Amino acid sequence: MTHQPVRFGLIGTGRIGQVHAASIAASPDAVLTWVADPFVDGARTVAARHGGAVTADPAEVFASGEVDAVVIASPTPTHVDLIAQAIEAGIPTLCEKPIDLDLARVDALRATVAGSDVPVALGFNRRFDPAFAEVHARVAAGEIGDLEQLTIVSRDPSAPPAAYIEASGGIFRDMTIHDFDMARFFLPDIVEVTAVGATLFDPGAREHGDFDTAVTTLRAAGGAMVTIVNSRHSAAGYDQRLEAFGARGTLQVQNMPTSLVSFSGEAQVEAKPPYQAFFLERYAEAYAAELREFIQLVRRGPSTSPTFEDGRAALVLADAAQRSAVEHVTVPVDLR
Ligand SMILES: NC(=O)c1ccc[n+]([C@@H]2O[C@H](COP(=O)([O-])OP(=O)(O)OC[C@H]3O[C@@H](n4cnc5c(N)ncnc54)[C@H](O)[C@@H]3O)[C@@H](O)[C@H]2O)c1
Repeated sequence: MTHQPVRFGLIGTGRIGQVHAASIAASPDAVLTWVADPFVDGARTVAARHGGAVTADPAEVFASGEVDAVVIASPTPTHVDLIAQAIEAGIPTLCEKPIDLDLARVDALRATVAGSDVPVALGFNRRFDPAFAEVHARVAAGEIGDLEQLTIVSRDPSAPPAAYIEASGGIFRDMTIHDFDMARFFLPDIVEVTAVGATLFDPGAREHGDFDTAVTTLRAAGGAMVTIVNSRHSAAGYDQRLEAFGARGTLQVQNMPTSLVSFSGEAQVEAKPPYQAFFLERYAEAYAAELREFIQLVRRGPSTSPTFEDGRAALVLADAAQRSAVEHVTVPVDLR
């Protein structure tokens, strides 16, 4: 069956909005028809490059009658209201993570999402990374037997500015949220969270009572364990590794090199350049695949796009980890 390209509205044209605009423009199944950002110059720049009409007001996008789907890439505090507007307008939505920093606001929208047939997908792009997706498929196919231990290493290249930390909701809600979703990609039914945090190096984290270093362990319903290792800095570049361990073997994802060329000489052998700089480079393919999967959902075909419930579950785990790290307790969770 042939399809018309899905007409997209993009809301928010900052760091991640520009990635989505480029993915939409590059897809034969999508076209950018509207771009909204109160910083209108940003919207104009994106529209000049990738197409679409420009507005400062997202409501104009929903009312235009010219979008079949929207991508919400505006700041986190705007997500809940914009998802509600999208559902009201009957427009399928791919919303960036997290849904909100406040679980009460997420829960206030939960019944509306559940009671609507308008699709809402969450931007947990790492599920679509080819290497992580391959490990997931091979675990599901039984290659390593039952999954017993999952280890996720996730370190940013350097700490963000103090002002970002202040508004971020803390390391667990801002950064580990991706790792909580990756844990649930493999083991959806997490029942217990234990986390430790420390502030070892970042003055911004110290100023705002946040951690710059954390280790979280999760226990799944069947007893399998997840360990998540986070740091806000990594001298060698963006450090994104994963290991799935079972009775019959181990599957590992290593870091992506910036070059396949290594140097060997008198003082060193096989010296390589640092890892890829950050998420825009490391997950470039994942963002494109995330959009492809969302287009399936918009067309009401089979789709593995992460859901609003996945977004809520990751936030429940982040809240539990924050409490665990502050109060030095293990926190039981019920993700239903
Ligand atoms: N999945 C990922 O890998 C990933 C990466 C980065 C950011 N994010 C998420 O994406 C969201 C945006 O992050 P960012 O880093 O791109 O932020 P950013 O600050 O770079 O960009 C946000 C943009 O939204 C605009 N904006 C503000 N209020 C708006 C509104 N009401 N309607 C429309 N636009 C509005 C701003 O003017 C700005 O241009 C956040 O929720 C963040 O957590 C996800």
